[in-house]
Amino acid sequence: MTAELLSVDLAKSYRLLNHGPTVLVSSAHQGARNVMAAAWAMPLDFDPPKVLVVIDKSTFSRGLIEASGEFILNIPCKAQAAAVLRAGSASGKDGDKFAASGLAPARAEKVGAPRVAGCIAYLECKVIDEPRNQQRYDLFIGEVVAAAADRRVFDGHWHFDDDALRSLHYVAGGAFFATGEAFEVKL
Ligand SMILES: Cc1cc2nc3c(=O)[nH]c(=O)nc-3n(C[C@H](O)[C@H](O)[C@H](O)COP(=O)(O)O)c2cc1C
Repeated sequence: MTAELLSVDLAKSYRLLNHGPTVLVSSAHQGARNVMAAAWAMPLDFDPPKVLVVIDKSTFSRGLIEASGEFILNIPCKAQAAAVLRAGSASGKDGDKFAASGLAPARAEKVGAPRVAGCIAYLECKVIDEPRNQQRYDLFIGEVVAAAADRRVFDGHWHFDDDALRSLHYVAGGAFFATGEAFEVKL
């Protein structure tokens, strides 16, 4: 079954990351494409919406992102956990990691990099060049230029009723948490 995507107001796109999920960073440049896992990603600003992600110098993704000035933060779900671990354990230097990880590329809206099909949300980003942060801290800032989320789990807020569609939170050594129960606090 293909998911029906809800286009997300860019001013609200931070909500897709606010609960801190592990992401799949996809990138492409001149015919090469790649996908890697990243646990270190977060929202940075509302308007214009910006995100942060740490992309290590040793990664194949790093060169694609620096050369293209684009990346996508795809938010994978529990059903994709093994593929996330594979995408975070092998390098695109050694061959197309989409096929090797069991992940399918899908056309994005505003950037050349492919989305990762089956993810529950997408933040398409253009790099805001900050050479010092990139070089010194491996820190990439992206302006979110398009965002969408799976209507089954996001209607402006997350609702994780289907266990397989819960977002992932990485610990280390292949250990993950899935997003738990939601509750509200009234002040
Ligand atoms: C769950 C998980 C989270 C990860 N988080 C990050 C991260 O935030 N930043 C990073 O640079 N590498 C992270 N890694 C490691 C990269 O995903 C790994 O080095 C990957 O092989 C790089 O792929 P590439 O060389 O194809 O770009 C993570 C790995 C896993 C399994």
